[in-house]
Amino acid sequence: MRRKITVIGAGNVGATVAQRIVEKELGDVVLVDVIEGVPQGKGLDMIQSGAVEGFDMRIVGSNSYDETEGSDLVIVTAGLARKPGMSRDDLLRKNEEIVAGCISKTTRGSRDLKVIVVTNPLDAMCEVVRRITKLPKQNVIGMAGILDSARMRAFISMELGVSMTNIHATVLGGHGDTMVPLPRYSTVAGVPITELMSPERVAAIVKRTAGGGAEIVNFLKTGSAYYAPSAAAVEMAEAIFNDRKKILPCAAYLEGEYGISGVFVGVPVVLGSKGIERIIELKLTPEESAALKKSAASVQELVGLLTV
Ligand code: NAI
Ligand code: 2OP
Repeated sequence: MRRKITVIGAGNVGATVAQRIVEKELGDVVLVDVIEGVPQGKGLDMIQSGAVEGFDMRIVGSNSYDETEGSDLVIVTAGLARKPGMSRDDLLRKNEEIVAGCISKTTRGSRDLKVIVVTNPLDAMCEVVRRITKLPKQNVIGMAGILDSARMRAFISMELGVSMTNIHATVLGGHGDTMVPLPRYSTVAGVPITELMSPERVAAIVKRTAGGGAEIVNFLKTGSAYYAPSAAAVEMAEAIFNDRKKILPCAAYLEGEYGISGVFVGVPVVLGSKGIERIIELKLTPEESAALKKSAASVQELVGLLTV
């Protein structure tokens, strides 16, 4: 049976997610947006690209939620993106309203629905989805850690002149200024980067990773990154559908892990057909643990402002 994937928001991230999904033949896509004509036009364009790329997936663009009934996966990208000078947290109020409104219309007829949340501020929007859908915690998964660690991998690759495929990077915490890149757990062919470069260069990479989203916003001026974010969201979808049991950093609802409870924070998880199948607890130094708790506290602060 063909899978149905609803992508809410047909903007930069949503449309690129949809295109990547059909190119990988992960399932049929329903692309929903409030702007009349945009999901329909982009959907038709994507279908036509199948003639060249060689896929036969269905893509339905719509301004309503009728076609989303019975989705296997919903990827939430609807909302405002950051403009220069705006923090992800500035987006809270508006995007809470948008995400709550969208997600409440997309659960109809779905069995064991999984939701991948992309909209910012990411960790707080995961909580909006959890509250509105009442899905089990393992079915609501936030995309940020894969993106943040991809950025760190790219910067390590640029620094050392080695393939990104040989680099593993670990970034924990909320998707914001308090994220916690972990050099000790970031390796090149198994060797920690702390053994491969000076503390100053490591610190520079950590800083650039934490500011990686803003660096792109400052270049683009009218929006934020979407090629790497869409690739990250689709890696999660692929891990779920193909039951890959991939260990990926994702925003997960913690209940005591890392000494944190009742909040979504980025941690390594095992991602498979049941969604978040396990949370992996890395051994952290007291400094790393304190940084993670500080990051969780900043997410908790935002969650305290939610009205849903
Ligand atoms: P965009 O502005 O290109 O697209 C957003 C789309 O959402 C627009 O087409 C808009 O019409 C649509 N939309 C707004 N309200 C809607 C509603 N009620 N129902 C359906 N659609 C609605 O923005 P972009 O670049 O696609 O980013 C989307 C979101 O993802 C932003 O909040 C951004 O900050 C976030 N983001 C998060 C990342 C992460 O790592 N978690 C990475 C990149 C973006
Ligand atoms: C990013 O990190 C805007 O959160 C988005 O690019």
